Amino acid sequence: MLELRNVTKRFNLTGSVEDERIALDNVSLAIKPGEFVTIIGGNGSGKSTTLNIVSGVLTPDEGKVLLNEYDITKLQEYRRAAYFGRVFQDPMVGTASDMSVLENLEIAYQRGRIHSPFVWGFKKADKEYFIEELKRFDLGLENRLGQKVGVMSGGQRQALTLLMATIRRRPTIRMMRRDYIKFAGLDSLVARKEFDEEFTRCQIIKDEKIAKAKTSNLSKKEIKIIVKEAKFEFEQAMLAKFDLTKQILLLDEHTAALDPKTAKKVLELTNKIVRENNMTTLMVTHNMKDALTYGDRLIMFHSGHIILDVSGKEKAKLKVDDLLKMFEEADEKLING
Ligand SMILES: Nc1ncnc2c1ncn2[C@@H]1O[C@H](COP(=O)(O)OP(=O)(O)O)[C@@H](O)[C@H]1O
Ligand SMILES: [Mg+2]
Repeated sequence: MLELRNVTKRFNLTGSVEDERIALDNVSLAIKPGEFVTIIGGNGSGKSTTLNIVSGVLTPDEGKVLLNEYDITKLQEYRRAAYFGRVFQDPMVGTASDMSVLENLEIAYQRGRIHSPFVWGFKKADKEYFIEELKRFDLGLENRLGQKVGVMSGGQRQALTLLMATIRRRPTIRMMRRDYIKFAGLDSLVARKEFDEEFTRCQIIKDEKIAKAKTSNLSKKEIKIIVKEAKFEFEQAMLAKFDLTKQILLLDEHTAALDPKTAKKVLELTNKIVRENNMTTLMVTHNMKDALTYGDRLIMFHSGHIILDVSGKEKAKLKVDDLLKMFEEADEKLING
C-alpha cells in the first residue's frame, strides 16, 4: 500500500509571499497493491509533483509518504530507487545512448543494490532472464542485445525504459512469504493461509505439468524445456500475487513525445506489463481517452487538489465529455472563488 497523507508542497522561487505557489494542497491518497491508476489534470495541476514526492525527488512541506506502513517521507531518492520504476516523457532520459541494450538492462538490474559494490559483468542466468522478458515484448529487442541504444527509435527506447523500470532481482519464495505475512496489511494468520493455499495450488499445477511431460513420449530435451517452463510459470504466478517488493511504476506522460501509432503500441505494452505482473502503477497522461481506456482507477488533479477519484464501474461509465465538463466546472469555481 502506497499512501500520501495530507501532503502539501509549495514552491517559492523569489522568496516573496506573493510568488508562492501551492503545487499540492493537503492531498491524501491511498493506492492498493496492484492498482493501476491513471492521472489527468491541466498543466501545473500537481501531477508531476505528486510523482516526484512519491519517488523522493521532492520532499513535502507538510504531510507524509508511506509505503507498506513505513514512513518514507524523509528517505532519500536513491534509497527508494529499488521500490520505484520510472518512465518519463523524454525517451532520452531513461536510457544511456552510448551503451547497448544489454548494458542498460544490467544497470537497471543492479539499481537499488546500494550495499554491494557496483558489479560490471553478469551471470549467464541474468542474460537469459533479460532475453525471456524481452521476448514477451514482441518487438524483436531480444535479437539486438548488443546494439547501442542511441540508434534506436523513441518508441523502442521507451519500451526498453519500461522493461528497465520493471526488472529486478526477484525475491525467493521464502522471502516473499515472510514479507507478505508481515507487510500485506492483512491479519498475519489470514495472510499466511492465503499464501500457503496459493503456494499449494500453484505447486499442484506445476507438478501435474511435469508429471504429464514425463509420462509422455517426448524427447529428453523437450521434457527439460517443459519442466523449465512449469517452474517459471509457478514462480511468475507467486510473484504476481505476493511479491510486495516489486516496483511501483511511475509513468509521467511517457507516451506524449511519441507519434500516435508508436504511442499506442507503448501504451499497450505498458498495460501488458502492468497486468501480467500485477504492478501498482501511477500513469500520468494528458490524453483523457487513454486515462479512461486503461487502468482501474482515475484521478483528476486541479490546482493542487484531487477533484475526481473514480474506479471500477463508475470509471467504466465515464466519457471524455464528462471529464471535460468537470474540468471546466472546476476552472469556473476557481475563478469565481
Ligand atoms: N521545481 C519547481 N520550481 C518551481 N515551481 C514548480 C516546480 N515544480 C513544479 N512547480 C509548480 O508547481 C505547480 C505544479 O506543477 P506540476 O506538478 O509539474 O504540474 P503538472 O500537473 O503539469 O505535472 C505548477 O504551478 C508549477 O509551476
Ligand atoms: Mg507534469
